[in-house]
Amino acid sequence: MSARITLHEKAAKSIGRRHPWFFSGAIKSIKGSPEAGDILQVLTPEGQFAARGYWNPNSQIAIRVLSWQDENINRDFWLGRIRQAIHARGGQPVCRLINAENDYLPGLIVDRYGEWLVLQALTLGIDQRKQMLAALLAEELQPRGIYERSDVDVRSKEGLSEVTGVLWGEEPPDSIEITEHGWRLLVDIKTGQKTGFYLDQRDNRADLYHTLQTHPAEVVLNAFSYTGGFTVAGLAGGAQRVISLDSSEGALELAKQNVALNGFAVNDEDFVVGDVFATLRQYRDAGQTFDAIVLDPPKFAHNASQIDRAARGYKDINLFAIHQLKPGGLLWTFSCSGVISADLFQKIVFGALVDSGREGQIIRRLTSAADHPVALTFPEGDYLKGLVCRVW
Ligand SMILES: C[S@@+](CC[C@H](N)C(=O)[O-])C[C@H]1O[C@@H](n2cnc3c(N)ncnc32)[C@H](O)[C@@H]1O
Repeated sequence: MSARITLHEKAAKSIGRRHPWFFSGAIKSIKGSPEAGDILQVLTPEGQFAARGYWNPNSQIAIRVLSWQDENINRDFWLGRIRQAIHARGGQPVCRLINAENDYLPGLIVDRYGEWLVLQALTLGIDQRKQMLAALLAEELQPRGIYERSDVDVRSKEGLSEVTGVLWGEEPPDSIEITEHGWRLLVDIKTGQKTGFYLDQRDNRADLYHTLQTHPAEVVLNAFSYTGGFTVAGLAGGAQRVISLDSSEGALELAKQNVALNGFAVNDEDFVVGDVFATLRQYRDAGQTFDAIVLDPPKFAHNASQIDRAARGYKDINLFAIHQLKPGGLLWTFSCSGVISADLFQKIVFGALVDSGREGQIIRRLTSAADHPVALTFPEGDYLKGLVCRVW
């Protein structure tokens, strides 16, 4: 019989809300001698069955719930959850295939780039089972290879070090080509950021493209451009010039290749390696203005204690960007910090606008693409928020 954990009275609310995490402080007692990573029965304070989940005594999040049903967590269980997530993507060849807690598979991220899959094991419970999960994925999808990109900071909170490498099948080449909205894009799944590409911004790149069709822009600034997804969208949308600005030289090299691959001219001066904060100040000093600006910074706040500092950072870049927009110019501004709510983000952008002395309107609110579902029981999954603003 599997070990059992009984929860404290104070965890009753979380049980009722079916939140998939129980923190170490929520545990009243443990029966049996479970090993780290084992699957346990979770009992209510009254001793009734509540859930099954995996356990990590070395993590603050001691239990991650796999099922609220009294069912066996066996091969069929994992296969069922994987099939459910795959089915929900409707056969999209390039997508986030498994979105961890939001697909009821806590700690497991799988991105699909055509015939290649990239897996991230964020927790000990998943790390211990990743070979089995890769085999199930291979059986279902017959990829050429499954590459592991478990080189993420959060693993240290689970007592894990960073790992990358082939999990199943062939090793992918240094860059692979994907198609997004008909654009050809190169992705480096072995050493690029995240699993190689920011799939979550897919619909928002399309939003830029479609908007520019009806609101032509001559010069666009794509700040925090990474490999130029928004750059290609802007050029395809009819912009005469899109300046890609990022601190990563490697990402900008790939951005150049992506621009060329889509038949647009590559002008070296339109690929700027630099810090966005400093470069926006330089644009201010030089009086350089833009018809549209995209601001898609990295996560500024990783936890609640960083919110104030992050808010100042978001305000600064939005203020600088607003200053550099021509009257009637458009701003696509994003935050991927889960701890910054959509409401707070809007207040920050509002603060930047007021300080700039300009007038502005929200014309659209944006979020992540549909292959990044957010489980209603897991509000932490709702991290990406964006505003499209017109600035006068
Ligand atoms: C969220 S990603 C941008 C993703 C991109 N918009 C896309 O659609 O692929 C953030 C990017 O900001 C870059 N970055 C981080 N800090 C920066 C800074 N201070 N100045 C310039 N770029 C920075 C990173 O290298 C990364 O490429």
